[in-house]
Amino acid sequence: MKRPLTRFFLFALAAALPFALQAEPDLERGKQLHRQCALCHGQYSQGILGGKYPRMAGLPEYYLIKMIERYKDGTLNYPAMTVVGGLRNLSQADIESLVAYISLIDLDEVAPLDIATAPGDVEEGEETYKNDCRTCHGRKGEGNARKESPPLSGQYTEYLARQIEMFKRKQREHAGDPEDETFAEYSDEELRDILAYISTLDDK
Ligand code: HEC
Ligand code: HEC
Repeated sequence: MKRPLTRFFLFALAAALPFALQAEPDLERGKQLHRQCALCHGQYSQGILGGKYPRMAGLPEYYLIKMIERYKDGTLNYPAMTVVGGLRNLSQADIESLVAYISLIDLDEVAPLDIATAPGDVEEGEETYKNDCRTCHGRKGEGNARKESPPLSGQYTEYLARQIEMFKRKQREHAGDPEDETFAEYSDEELRDILAYISTLDDK
């Protein structure tokens, strides 16, 4: 009676051990790795006015990981970042620590962000946003983890506009669908209005 139980116990222990040993994200390590990112994304990952370098602080982990993997494997191509940021050499554990660190940066505390209201008709933009974007990106542009949709509020307008251009040209996949035509049907003016509305949302 005793032996099989002991054996079972040992077996269970051996099976559980790898999980028990799996490291928690190491925030100190994350902070250290972030120095390479800060060269472009800013000391607090607040990004740079003008939106060449996007804000990353406070973005959800699932989204940061997805984007980092794309830059790593070349789906998204920005060699300067892969080299200077040292992305290619980061282990999975490093990526998790880095992303945990970035995700926890609270800009309101260290470097409050104020996205300027972009030109365009905010009311028109609000109408379109509510009809066509809200289900995934959230009522206030806060994103929706279940739908893997990133926040849009508090991101630089120029950066968002550039991503929309990339979606249109199929240089980046939108909404997890290679056939996505969300942006094909809008005029430039409509897109401008949507971005104007998004720029008025809470910057948090
Ligand atoms: C040489 C400058 C540079 C460095 C260093 C750099 N990045 Fe970037 N990063 C960029 C640019 C530019 C973009 C936007 C690219 C675009 O517009 O397509 C970007 C975009 C991103 C995005 C997408 C953000 C979003 O909101 O979609 C992530 C995530 C990211 N970088 C992570 C990192 C991490 C993590 C590091 C450090 C390991 C890092 N970057 C280092 C320049 C850099
Ligand atoms: C069916 C869900 C869905 C709908 C509807 C949707 N999106 Fe998205 N959107 C996503 C997902 C998912 C992503 C992340 C794409 C990825 O994998 O990189 C995204 C990414 C984006 C990005 C890039 C954000 C960044 O930080 O790089 C922008 C900009 C964007 N969407 C704008 C819009 C706008 C504007 C609308 C409405 C006209 C809209 N989306 C409608 C799901 C959706």
